[in-house]
Amino acid sequence: MRLIALAILCAPTVAPAQALPRLPEAIDLEPADGTVHVELTAAETGDPVFPYTYGDGIGPLIRLRRGDTLAVDLTNALPDPTTIHWHGVAVPEAMDGTTWRFDPVQPGETFRYTFAVEQPGTFWYHPHFDTARQVDGGLFGALIVDDPDAPTPDDALTLIFDRAMEGHDSPGGPAGHGALMAGWRINGAHTPLTHTARGGTVVRVRLINVSSVGYLDLRWPGIRLIAGDQGFLPALATPERIVLGPGDRAEVEWLVGDEGFTISDHPYSLNGGATWQDPVELLRVEVEDPAPAPAGLDWPFTGAAPTPDPPYSDIVYVFAGSDRTGRWFINGEQFPDVTVEAVAEGSRPVIEVRNQSPTEHPFHIHGNHFEVLSLDGEPPPHAMFEDTLNIPVHGRARLRLLADNPGDWMTHCHILPHAEDGMMTVLRVGEPTP
Ligand code: C2O
Ligand code: CU
Repeated sequence: MRLIALAILCAPTVAPAQALPRLPEAIDLEPADGTVHVELTAAETGDPVFPYTYGDGIGPLIRLRRGDTLAVDLTNALPDPTTIHWHGVAVPEAMDGTTWRFDPVQPGETFRYTFAVEQPGTFWYHPHFDTARQVDGGLFGALIVDDPDAPTPDDALTLIFDRAMEGHDSPGGPAGHGALMAGWRINGAHTPLTHTARGGTVVRVRLINVSSVGYLDLRWPGIRLIAGDQGFLPALATPERIVLGPGDRAEVEWLVGDEGFTISDHPYSLNGGATWQDPVELLRVEVEDPAPAPAGLDWPFTGAAPTPDPPYSDIVYVFAGSDRTGRWFINGEQFPDVTVEAVAEGSRPVIEVRNQSPTEHPFHIHGNHFEVLSLDGEPPPHAMFEDTLNIPVHGRARLRLLADNPGDWMTHCHILPHAEDGMMTVLRVGEPTP
């Protein structure tokens, strides 16, 4: 009897895969030119797996055009303080959602975040208070700044990848990525998912990894990478895979032809990349009205070469620590007991990040972005501008900071438990402000 029951339980159930949901778009409360005004409420859901939300499921997509001003009224309906950090956007320090020099938004309070956006790109927003718990719990959303000079594709998709932490098991999620987490969701829906695209069209796809710990190692035929963290690449890239660590983004142009394809994730270890585990199917794209694949669009690529890597560093950050101790350090220090390094506003300091730990770390800096001069001694093929960059095990990244936005800026590993266990410091741009 027992055996029969078990056999029935184990029989493979082929549930029809759900269609990829599109992100809900934020409603602009004052539709006037040049401003977008949005209200967000951080609230509890009652769901133990994703206990928090900015609305209905994951946060709404906020869409701006270069030069727009955004105003977001955040109401905190949580029992704990919270903030919003605008990951990748050069905001004034008081709008950055960090608690180094500013107070978080208390339960019951409303705070207005407002700033203008000058840099087109794919960004996201999330709390910067009790960050791992609040982000993992469901507080995140996409923020897109459109470039008015870019061509218009036939369709555009934004895909937010997240995964629940273990202990909050997600139904239907594949195992993988070690024992730490349940399977990936895309736009809040559990993978695998399906999507139907029309043959002969160009689709612009924005990818955002908001997981606190999980790396994505995405594979699909014919990847055409057009943009990174901070807008368009200088030239089209056609890599075999896209690795996105926590906090990282990329943009791809899909040329939909007459054949479907599958996007899979290759389980990736923080301790050194690809693993022996089987790939996991995330999204199956089916084609309706098959047609020959169109040509790519004329994206505003500049062709810019990377800045030569000079033989000096202005700042060196040594990342160290281990899973064994669960303690993580930058230059032997743990946030908030850190030395504040300072650079002049308008300067272009060279920062070397050395990873002396057996774990990869996505290096992230607030308020300003950087050019990658070299990674493990190799310059990138073209100029490469990022705010989040994965540093491989024992790897060495050399960066040129575009230090144009004054303030005290959090600089940290975007594996959120690492940041919370100390792997965060402060970089001051310009004079200290009172
Ligand atoms: Cu995505 Cu310090 O943040
Ligand atoms: Cu880390």
